[in-house]
Order: sequence, then C-alpha cells, then structure tokens
Amino acid sequence: MSPRQMKLGLFLWATGHHIAAWRHPKAHVTAGIDIGHYIQLARTAEAAKLDMIFCEDAAGLREANVGIASQTSRSIGFEPISLLSAIAVQTGRIGLVSTASTSYNEPYGLARTFASLDQLSGGRAGWNLVTSASNIEAANFGSMGLRSHADRYERAREFAAVVAGLWRGAGSGGLNHDGQSFSVRDALDLPRSPQGAPVMVQAGASEDGKDLAARTADVVFSAAQTFEEAKAFYDDVKGRLAAYGRTSGDVKIMPGVAPVVAATEPEARAKHEELQELIPDEVGLSIRQLARHFAGARGHWRIVGTPAQIADELQARFEGGAADGFNVMPSWFPGELDAFCALVVPELQRRGLFRTEYEGRTLREHLGLKGPASAA
Ligand SMILES: Cc1cc2nc3c(=O)[nH]c(=O)nc-3n(C[C@H](O)[C@H](O)[C@H](O)COP(=O)(O)O)c2cc1C
Repeated sequence: MSPRQMKLGLFLWATGHHIAAWRHPKAHVTAGIDIGHYIQLARTAEAAKLDMIFCEDAAGLREANVGIASQTSRSIGFEPISLLSAIAVQTGRIGLVSTASTSYNEPYGLARTFASLDQLSGGRAGWNLVTSASNIEAANFGSMGLRSHADRYERAREFAAVVAGLWRGAGSGGLNHDGQSFSVRDALDLPRSPQGAPVMVQAGASEDGKDLAARTADVVFSAAQTFEEAKAFYDDVKGRLAAYGRTSGDVKIMPGVAPVVAATEPEARAKHEELQELIPDEVGLSIRQLARHFAGARGHWRIVGTPAQIADELQARFEGGAADGFNVMPSWFPGELDAFCALVVPELQRRGLFRTEYEGRTLREHLGLKGPASAA
C-alpha cells in the first residue's frame, strides 16, 4: 500500500476535451448549456470519490473565426461560477473549482463571489486564478486592449493578496487596502469559510506565473507530455516554495491527462481512432492554436490503453515525483468519464493509490491541505 494517495480532479468541458467530441455518435451537442448534463457528470465524479471538478473560463468566444468556432466542442457554455453554484446543491462532497480572471474583475467582488460559493457548498470552493492572455477577451473589457504580461502579473499579485486578506478577515474589521491597482476598505459581508478560505489554484507556466503559484497557490495545474517535462515543472514549482516559507506538501501539482480506456488495448485504440477521424480538416489546422491558448503552448498528455496500462502510467508519474495527482480530461462526455470511473479508479483503489471514501467534507480536507497560504 502506498501511504501517499494521488489527487484526482475532473476537468469539465461541454461535450468533452477532444476537439471532435461534439461529433461523436453519442455526443450531446448542446451539453454546454444543459445543467442536467453537468449535474450528471459531477455526480459520477463524486461517486468515484474524485477530489474536485474544475471549470475553465474565458469571458469571450474561444475562437475568433466563427466558421471554426462552430466546429469545435465548446462554442457555447455557462458562466462557470453560476454553473458550480447549481451543481453545489446537487452534490455533497466534491470540490468545485472555477477559473476567474484577475484582469477583468475587481478583488472585492470576486472574493465575495467565491466566499459565497464556499459557504453555500459547505467549504468546497476553489478559485483558479488566471491573468487572461487573449485579445478576444480584452476586446470585451474597455478600450485599453490586452495589458502586457508583466502588468497582468503585477495586477494579479496585488489582486491575490487583497482576496486572501478579505477571506482571512471575513466578517471582521475593514481591510483598508490602498495599493497600486486597488483600493478596498470593508471586510466581506460573509462569515469565515468552513475550510478557512477557498482553495487557490493556478496554471501559469511563465516565470511570473510559477512564482505567483509558489507564493499563493494550493493546487497547480500543468500540461506536460513526457515524464521528464512533468518532473522538471514539478521540481521547479516545489523548489520555489521555501522562499515563501512553504513546504512541498503545501502545494499539489496536478498535470492534465486525457485517458482513453477500454478492457483491451485494441478496443481503446479503436475508440481513440474513431474520434481522431471525426476532426474536420479546417479545425485540424487550428488545434495547435487552441492548445496554446488553453494549455500554455503545450498539449496535454494522452494515454490510450487498458485500466492496468493507464494505472501503470499514472503510478509511474505519481511515484516518480512528477505529480501529486491528475486533472482528468475525458475525450467525450459522458462516455469516457464513465469508463474512467468504472475501470481506472477501481484499479487505482486496488493498488492503494486512491481513496475509497472521502476523508472529510471540505475541498481542503480532500486535498490534505493544512490551511490557506500565509504568504498570500
Ligand atoms: C489545465 C489548464 C487550464 C487552464 N485554464 C485556463 C482558463 O480557463 N482560462 C485561461 O485564461 N487560461 C487558462 N489556462 C492558462 C494558464 O492559466 C495561464 O493563464 C497561461 O498559461 C498564461 O500564463 P503564463 O504566461 O504564466 O503561462 C489553463 C492552463 C492549464 C494548464
């Protein structure tokens, strides 16, 4: 039995993560705006004892070319914090993590929204902090255009510190923050979170991004194809923690993984090929660009195989010091999520690598995190 167990998150994405997911014969094409679909996915993940579900976000269209956008698996969808609030009342244990931008929000409003999600879910909320790199989003928020990378991160650092201060002092005296980008007087009109504070998540891969993660994040998502790449990223982020008075266990690093599983290897390969063949030529050309936008210039790791083969690969990265867990990205919903939960999760449990029951009620308890980062 391994004393350390891996963390597993479910990365939600309308019809599924494969770009042709919406063309799968069993796909639910309007999944992006079907609350019943999302509740079903969340319940499946919760029944399998996954740590959390995760929603990406961009406040704008994902693709400027309408012809291409109409042929991808995610063209329409709910605003994610609204979506997670609805899922919160239909689930009881699973963590609820949403992306939100530091470039197009104000800290008081966002701290309040996540504190509210945290209260109504009994301490299961998490915030994936992004600085937003796309021009499409910038064009929806005033005339100043996309800020420079350095400016975005400077604003993000102050933003994260203000939010942490508000969460720490929820329900108590005023914050009285007067900084470069923000001025915030009051405390939040909510009590302190059942888990101390919502969980902080980040997925930036730049130097500024990794530094901000080392200073403030509880969970870091990444995209890495090879073991070496995953290990280098892992060591890099963990190596930055000491400078902020933190230790390795304070941050869980969870690379993305797109498993395609079936009872036999030929069956798994056939399932994967079926989706690959459904990619329209026009969209095939833009995959690189989309992957860049959402996964920091690199694609996520795909494993096609049997439950034992997939468990072997996950175990090797977990025990080899390249991951604390994984952000699972099923190729299409619900089929490939169902297959992962029915075939891979029990195999991981048999090996003692994943829980068979939730240990606590809050997301912080699931992740085995002590408390909010004090350096924030
Ligand atoms: C798993 C994963 C999910 C991400 N989700 C989002 C997202 O929802 N919205 C977004 O704007 N960026 C998202 N990103 C991109 C990064 O969070 C980050 O903004 C981007 O890599 C640019 O920051 P950097 O310059 O520090 O790398 C995601 C990245 C990864 C690896």
